[in-house]
Amino acid sequence: MPRSTTPVILGIESSCDETAAAVLVNGHVRSNVIAGQSVHQQWGGVVPELASRAHQEHIVPVVHQALQEAGVGMDQLDGIAFTRGPGLIGALLVGTCFARSMAQALDVPLLAVDHLQAHILAHLIIDSDARPVPAFPFLNLTVSGGHTLLVMVRGPLDMEVLGGTLDDAAGEAFDKGAKMLGLPYPGGPLIDRLAATGDPKRYSLPLPAIQGFDMSFSGLKAAFHRLVTDLKRRADVELEHELPHLCAALQQAIITILLRKLQKAGRFHGVKRIAISGGVSANSGLRAQVQQLAEREGWEVFIPPLAYCTDNAAMIAMAGHHLYLSGRAASLDVVPMPRHA
Ligand code: KG4
Ligand code: ZN
Repeated sequence: MPRSTTPVILGIESSCDETAAAVLVNGHVRSNVIAGQSVHQQWGGVVPELASRAHQEHIVPVVHQALQEAGVGMDQLDGIAFTRGPGLIGALLVGTCFARSMAQALDVPLLAVDHLQAHILAHLIIDSDARPVPAFPFLNLTVSGGHTLLVMVRGPLDMEVLGGTLDDAAGEAFDKGAKMLGLPYPGGPLIDRLAATGDPKRYSLPLPAIQGFDMSFSGLKAAFHRLVTDLKRRADVELEHELPHLCAALQQAIITILLRKLQKAGRFHGVKRIAISGGVSANSGLRAQVQQLAEREGWEVFIPPLAYCTDNAAMIAMAGHHLYLSGRAASLDVVPMPRHA
């Protein structure tokens, strides 16, 4: 079949606790549908088995809605893109099996997407809001719930990892810190909100000294745990009143760890453009401070709109768009890859 130069791509995302589907026509978003899973809130984190079951319930209606909102029939699709990994194996299996069957039934290319590449390609999504798109190469800080990476992006499918976390991800540091404070999952957005009225200097937290472009958040986590435990024991302190300050201190420490490495890598590689993506790039403190860093360094900065920071299927379709154009279809027996390669 000849390849279309303006492909219509369906993207499917099911790596964690969001079932999402989107349609892109030549990189332009026509629909972007997301079904969240509130079932995990009561457990303080994502329960893999419950996530798989919810994906199975949601996937057919979510894909149906994405096609309907886009006004695109199945016979108009040029390719089916899905998240191959990293993620939860049961959750990935639902999307993988669905995409494999659909590509086979429609006889169109199956496009196996790396979720972390997709978080970066979110910068290239075109919608009604005219945003500048980063030219290549650019340096991207990818910060999600499970991963934290500094990536040199030379082309849509040409990326080199320069460094990353040695232990917890930035999103995990937010979520685990929130759990220590008794806040529900996911804690990142709540910490962001509470930190807005707190004094980040009221409590001091240690910052790690790691070589190169790697990062670590486990020492910070341990120190925050000690601080919260001590405060809970003190009769003269009401934890409730300290929440904004504790959130502000934790958020600032995470941001400082991230931005020190971003600055170091940017200077070392002589970059002109920096970008952030992934769920944690929705953080208002990080967004503001990355902007200030870029101004100080004379770099151009790219930050996706909130809808493309956290998990979504438009970014999966965007990655699928480039896989399609470069003729890199997956075989129909492709299996999920739960860990990052
Ligand atoms: O990229 P994402 O939606 O899913 C993964 O690929 O993991 O990222 C989810 C992570 C969670 O840890 C969540 O707490 C964090 O992103 N997050 C935030 C904010 N919004 C989401 N962290 C800090 N501030 C936010 N506003
Ligand atoms: Zn993600």
